[in-house]
Amino acid sequence: MVKARKYVVKKHFQGVPKRDDFEIVEQELPPLKDGEILVKAEWISVDPYLRAYNARTPIPYDQFSYQVAVVTESKNPDYPVGTRVVSHKGWRDYTIFNPTVKTDDKNASLYKLPDLHGLSPSLGVGAVGMPGATAYFGFLEICKPKAGETVVVTGAAGAVGSIVGQIAKIKGCRVIGFAGSDDKVQWLEKELGFDKAFNYKTVDILKSLKEAAPKGVDCYFDNVGGEISSLILSQMNDYGRASVCGSISAYNEDPSKMPKATIIQPSLVFKQLKVEGFLVWRWDGRWPEAFAELVNWIKSGKLKAREHVTEGFDKLYDAFTGMLAGENSGKAVVKV
Ligand SMILES: NC(=O)c1ccc[n+]([C@@H]2O[C@H](COP(=O)([O-])OP(=O)(O)OC[C@H]3O[C@@H](n4cnc5c(N)ncnc54)[C@H](OP(=O)(O)O)[C@@H]3O)[C@@H](O)[C@H]2O)c1
Repeated sequence: MVKARKYVVKKHFQGVPKRDDFEIVEQELPPLKDGEILVKAEWISVDPYLRAYNARTPIPYDQFSYQVAVVTESKNPDYPVGTRVVSHKGWRDYTIFNPTVKTDDKNASLYKLPDLHGLSPSLGVGAVGMPGATAYFGFLEICKPKAGETVVVTGAAGAVGSIVGQIAKIKGCRVIGFAGSDDKVQWLEKELGFDKAFNYKTVDILKSLKEAAPKGVDCYFDNVGGEISSLILSQMNDYGRASVCGSISAYNEDPSKMPKATIIQPSLVFKQLKVEGFLVWRWDGRWPEAFAELVNWIKSGKLKAREHVTEGFDKLYDAFTGMLAGENSGKAVVKV
């Protein structure tokens, strides 16, 4: 008999999520039936959307997120022991699946880990997983960047932002990033090849932007929202494109007292901007296309997929709140 452990969210978060908003629950799993597999999580993701979706998910709920797991027992010949799978089972160690049952429930479905050509399986929740697909489609499909254009990325040192900036470089753009520490700025400029990066906590954003992009901004990939986004939109060129991926600057705010930012409509109208929000699930069926390209770029050294690894199932909460506080450069992931 296998005992599984999972994190149950008991409360709607107020401000920064608290340790006792979660409870670790044990569950005995039944013996496998024909067609089923037992998987053990190896890598579990902590992401900003776990915070953002909390208010709209009825409690209690099992903490979802992506995880890479390995098949440890199998009654399904298509999934022999040792096969790696990616699922949205989140913060739990053991899970039983029946992959032959087709379902629209994202939390009950899985796919085989893409061929990573020897790269770490952890990338299946990062650069070659949901965040990689987000960067790839959210940037290329919405910003439609052209070589020579100027691209600005906020949340630039994070899982999605660091990949967006590097894709923009691959496409021949000039790239400016904003991130929350001097170390992150150094990393973006020295290792990832950003043309310019700024610590948004210490610089005058408008002044820095005018200096770094004297001819204006053509594409903006927005991970954070708020005042910095209003300022960046004010510096865009005619027919500029902004891809709105997230608004992490407000995820821990009280929804009844959201921060106010400078009105953006004059920028949108006078510069005739196109601003489009998206959810990565829009391109669900096309994720393998992004994964193949991302693996090629990583293998050929064009793209660096850094990870911020925390060890231990018991450390998921710390890894989650650490990521929200900006402790990560690259993808925050937990090895279990
Ligand atoms: N639309 C979609 O389908 C989709 C899919 C995936 C992710 N997303 C969104 O993409 C964004 C990035 O996600 P990710 O997974 O790549 O996370 P991430 O950037 O790896 O981690 C979160 C980062 O947010 C930054 N941050 C925290 N508080 C902030 C604040 N007040 N202002 C500015 N930055 C702040 C921190 O970096 P600093 O040190 O720089 O502050 C932290 O490292 C999030 O908004 C997320 O919700 C959207």
